[in-house]
Formats: sequence, structure tokens, C-alpha cells
Amino acid sequence: MTKDPHLLWGGRFAEPMDPRLDRLNRSLPADRRLWREDVATNRAWVAALEAVGVLTGAERAQLEDGLDAVAAQLEAGAAERADDEDIHSLVERLLGEVVGPLAGKLHTGRSRNDQVATDLRLWTMRAIARLDGALAALGRALIAQGRAGLDVLMPSYTHTQRAQPVRFAHWALAHVWPLARDRGRLEDARRRASVLPLGSGAIAGSGFSVDRVGLAARLGFAAVSENSIDAVGDRDFAIEAVFAASLAGMHLSRLAEDLVLFSSAEFGFVKVAEPFTTGSSLMPQKRNPDALELVRGRSAQLLGRLVGMMAAMKALPSGYQKDLQENNAALFETLDAACAGAELMTGVVQGLTLQPARMAAALDAEMLATDLADLLVRGGRPFREAHELVGALVRRAEALGLPIHRVPAAEAAALSPELPEALGRLGDAEAAVERRRAAGGTARAAVEVQIDAAAALFAA
Ligand code: ARG
Repeated sequence: MTKDPHLLWGGRFAEPMDPRLDRLNRSLPADRRLWREDVATNRAWVAALEAVGVLTGAERAQLEDGLDAVAAQLEAGAAERADDEDIHSLVERLLGEVVGPLAGKLHTGRSRNDQVATDLRLWTMRAIARLDGALAALGRALIAQGRAGLDVLMPSYTHTQRAQPVRFAHWALAHVWPLARDRGRLEDARRRASVLPLGSGAIAGSGFSVDRVGLAARLGFAAVSENSIDAVGDRDFAIEAVFAASLAGMHLSRLAEDLVLFSSAEFGFVKVAEPFTTGSSLMPQKRNPDALELVRGRSAQLLGRLVGMMAAMKALPSGYQKDLQENNAALFETLDAACAGAELMTGVVQGLTLQPARMAAALDAEMLATDLADLLVRGGRPFREAHELVGALVRRAEALGLPIHRVPAAEAAALSPELPEALGRLGDAEAAVERRRAAGGTARAAVEVQIDAAAALFAA
């Protein structure tokens, strides 16, 4: 065990770190992806230090050039080969190699506690924008399929049992609105992430009167934190982003689940394009919807990450604790996975082939039972009685082995004299979807209004 020359805090230690601690403590493999944010934070800090007289103009220029050189090294993969404790230590070491002892002035009035909080917030804001873009693209793909399926009718399901006919567009748009809410939540999370912790020091504020408002403006934050203890120990922004991402993941999973069912031989409503499926090593005929299953499976892991992050936070004393480092990987993985899932689902949705004949074949007459009851209501029957009568008709039809509209008129009239006439006016599934003209319903005009509203919200 030799003392690590790269360490930022060796002075008060006589003995080197035990390798078993080092193994858990070293966060570079996870946080090296913060290098862009760390360089940006350093650059802003250099300017702030010059403004308070810690650095001369010449020193600032030298450090800025040095940071450019460090950024170029990191761009070329320097962080992959390094074995420093974390990204902050690495950047400072590389800077020292470029500019010499002057690099030692960089960390004046600052701590890795306010630095990592700043880097993480910057990263989160960017990741949110990336995920928002991926969800928007998926929304547009669903809207496009919805437009294509405006006149295609299919069953809707409750309890996975045939319920009532709907337009395919209505089903597709049912998966767009959750994405709209996800995007609203992400925007909200981005707004709360946009608060600058830098200048909070380790916990009690910076020893130098840096212009924090100027730092915020320079780094793209909307505000500065009001309390240094809170600023270094707060990870609400990360948890909110992970919550929004796991909820989006849950929506992707429900879309995937619908498509697993609808693409099965039993339903056959859609075909998933080959590039999004895989074969079986044993059964030569198989074509499996792995893309959908992976999105569904991954979303469970996102939820687990969210719970893990909150569990890590709940017992922490105020201020920075090393436990917080464990949450960083969860933040990165969750945002990455939600993005990858949305991108994959966009490909799946774009590649879907609708099978309108199979959907039509799944529309049985019983799915119009509610419409029949509604017709009796229009004739003056209280709904409860109408419901009972149509129920009796369904039972009779089942006993006769016939669909409800084929029950002989005399049999229907025996149940209630108004039934044969109502059956005569019942019409087909198209008539049923057109009866639902109220906003949010299945009539063509209502669905068109819905599609236009969604398209405006998801415009590129
Ligand atoms: N790698 C650390 C993290 O991600 C940086 C902060 C270290 N702070 C400290 N007091 N040791 O949390």
C-alpha cells in the first residue's frame, strides 16, 4: 500500500487507504461521465475567483487554457484509463499536469460537495432534455399510427375482456397522453434542478465572497440555493428526475404489454417488424417480441432504483454524506434506460403493421350490448331496467348459441316488446363508435380533435 499521490486530501493522513475501502469509495467509473459538467463548473469557478482577487487575469487565462487542454484529453478518453478517486480529483490532477502548481489554486473556497451537486444538477438538466426529446419522438410515432388507423375499428378491453369497439387511433392516442404528462413532470423537475449549489463550500458557505448570481447565469441556472447546508445535502432534483423517468418507464411498459398481447397469434391485431424481434435457439418457427419484453422488464428496474435512492436518503443527517455518492449511478442508469426504452419503442411503433381484418373479426355483437341498453333508455326505460333486460337477452342468446342480434324477434319480444325494434336500430360497430361524440370519445370527429391537440403538443 503506497500513499496515493492523486488524492486531494492526503495531508492529515499518515497511512494509506485500505484497498477494501478504496474499492467502494472510488467513484470515477460512474462519475467520469460528469466530465463535461465538471470542466464547465471549473471554468465558471476560475472566473469567479478572479473577480474576488484570488486569481490574476493572467492566471485565469492560464487556467482556462489548461481546462481546454484537459477537456480535449477527456474527450479523447483520458477518464477511461485513469484510476483517480473521482472525476473532480481527475480533472484537478490533469490540470496540474498541464499548468503546474497554479492548478492548486482552483479549489479555493470550494468543496467537492458543492461541486458534485452542481455537476449533477447540470447533468440532470441535460438528461431531462434528452429524455423529453425521446418521449416526444415516441408520441409523434404513436400519433402517426393513430392517423393511419383512424378508420380501423378494434375492441377495447377491460379486465382483458372484450368491452366496446373503438378506433385504433383512440387506442394509440391513449398511450400519447401519459407521455404528455411525463413531459410536464420532466419540465417541472428541470425547473427545480435549475438552482446553483456552487459557492456553498463543504457545508457552511464559501470563504470568499464569490458572485453566485453571476455563476448561476454563466452555468445556465435559473436561481442560486438559499442555504448552504441544504444545497450540499439535497438530492430531491435527482429523485424527481428519476421518479419522472420511472413513471415514463411504467408508461412504456404498459404500451409494450398491450403490443405483446396484440401481436400474439391469438389477437393478431398488429405485426411487430422483424428488426425488433428475435428467434428461438430451439424452435425454428418462433419470432419473439423481445424489444417489448425488455422495455417492460427494464421499467421494473427503474422503479427499484427510485426506491433505492429514497431509502438511501431517508436516514441521512443534513449536509453531505458519502451515501449520496451511491445515488449517482442510479440517476445515470435510470435516465439512460428510460431514454433507451423510449427510443426503442419509437422504432417498434413506427414499424408496426396494422391488421384491420383481424381487429374487425374480434368485434362481436355483444360488444354493442351497452348501446342496446342506451337505445332502450332513449325510449324511456330507466337505465337499470334496460341493463337487466339486455342482460337477459345476452343470456338467452348464449343459451341459443347465437349472437344477440340474431335472436329471433319473437324470443326477444318475449323478454320485452321494445327489444326487437331496438335491435333493428342497433347498427354495427362503426355506428357504436360514432354515437360517442362527446369530447374524449370515439366518434371520428372527436378523435380528430384529439389527434390535432396531441399533434400540436408533440410538434417537433
Ligand atoms: N465523489 C464524491 C461524490 O460523488 C464527491 C464528493 C466528495 N466529498 C467528500 N466530502 N468526500 O459524492
